[in-house]
Amino acid sequence: MSIVGKNDIQQLVAAGQEGLAKGRLPAGLVANAELHKLEAQRVFGRCWQFLAHETEIPQAGDYVVRYLGGGSIIVVRGEDGEVRAMANSCRHRGTMLCRTEMGNTSHFRCPYHGWTYRNTGTLAGVPAQKEVYGVEMDKNEWSLTQVPRLENYRGMIFGCLDEKAEPLVDYLGDMAWYLDLITQKSKGGLEVRGEPQRWIIDSNWKLGADNFVGDAYHTLMTHRSAVELGLAPPDPKFASEPAHIGLSNGHGLGVLGVPPGQPMPPFMNYPPEIVDGLDQDRADMLQRSAFIHGTVFPNLSFLNVLIGRDNKSMPVPMLTFRLWRPLSHDTMEVWSWFLVEKDADEEFKQQSYETYVRTFGISGVFEQDDAETWRSITAGTQGILAGSQTLNFEMGMGVLTSDDTWRGPGRPLSSGYAERNQREFWGRLLELLTDSGDDASETEPKPQLLAQSRTNADEVA
Ligand code: FES
Ligand SMILES: [Fe+2]
Repeated sequence: MSIVGKNDIQQLVAAGQEGLAKGRLPAGLVANAELHKLEAQRVFGRCWQFLAHETEIPQAGDYVVRYLGGGSIIVVRGEDGEVRAMANSCRHRGTMLCRTEMGNTSHFRCPYHGWTYRNTGTLAGVPAQKEVYGVEMDKNEWSLTQVPRLENYRGMIFGCLDEKAEPLVDYLGDMAWYLDLITQKSKGGLEVRGEPQRWIIDSNWKLGADNFVGDAYHTLMTHRSAVELGLAPPDPKFASEPAHIGLSNGHGLGVLGVPPGQPMPPFMNYPPEIVDGLDQDRADMLQRSAFIHGTVFPNLSFLNVLIGRDNKSMPVPMLTFRLWRPLSHDTMEVWSWFLVEKDADEEFKQQSYETYVRTFGISGVFEQDDAETWRSITAGTQGILAGSQTLNFEMGMGVLTSDDTWRGPGRPLSSGYAERNQREFWGRLLELLTDSGDDASETEPKPQLLAQSRTNADEVA
């Protein structure tokens, strides 16, 4: 049992780094209030994070409200067609401008005193300006505060609060190749269908990221009832088929087939006419894949699976993005998007959507299995005794070898049952937490990570 003092967060982080090299992690790192404050600055103040898909805001004036660095953010397509992201906060007193989660508008008018901003963020009108501020007031100085870095990869809009962050494509590294695999099957690309579902789980956010980055092992037990219901292949070890792929920057994924002898339709059972966007290597990979799951560090996961809607129909593929938004050390808000190929016919889109709702939507059978487990881990790693133990992250160490037949980038292991990606996810997290750095997130005021759980840079630096 670890004897690390729970109150010294840096000591705990250092113990985590030392332990991970041997496949062990202090349980006290899972859902720790002090760690949560440090993550707010050094992880969520620095990393690229997913905000929206471009098809959520296709027209000029379309906007959605999202969260970044603890603050409410308006992501809006301006009259000029350009997508911007800016603080949902009036420059007069800070009142939130958008009270609805989405809509279309040419201007945002503050409900307090009526300052009005164009959807590009510039201040357009101030009531009684001439009388109380004078004609000379420079309205350009009082534009909405823009998210300093905003980039679009294949329709996925990411924001970053660190002005000096590397370009998004460099941050993604080889993950970009796999994002192409799941987003570019069809030349027409993807569309988000419906609004993202959201729900709150009494779980630390890292448990969602850890699960999706590499945990195919849990399907054997956690989702056994779904296997018994006929929603997944009958062999309970179905998710052990290759591969578990390590990437850079804490990203990782699994691209899994089905056990030999199991029937598997080509291209995950996507309608053949819409699978026209992949190069040969990716097409070959999709040909033998049934489950693709992964995490873009820190908190965006994705799942592209061929799965049963019920125990009678042919399995149907579906794609979802999931965002694990931390609310506190033991609570997260899950955001779940459903995406489908734009060029697919309406019947396929509806079948794919129903498959998503029944499996990984808020009331989906797989989703509920996972949520309960993460809640249980969050609670189960609390307390003096459980919080001071170490957890086993050894799976595959010294046992699994590289899959030399793999055609994609990254470091593949030939079994989906592995924990190297989880070790690397946690390793990257701990690396960031030990780096006080000289970036703006440490030295200048930044938006709070969470309205519900205010952090203080002085406390955590
Ligand atoms: S707070 Fe927005 S106009 Fe006064
Ligand atoms: Fe699961």
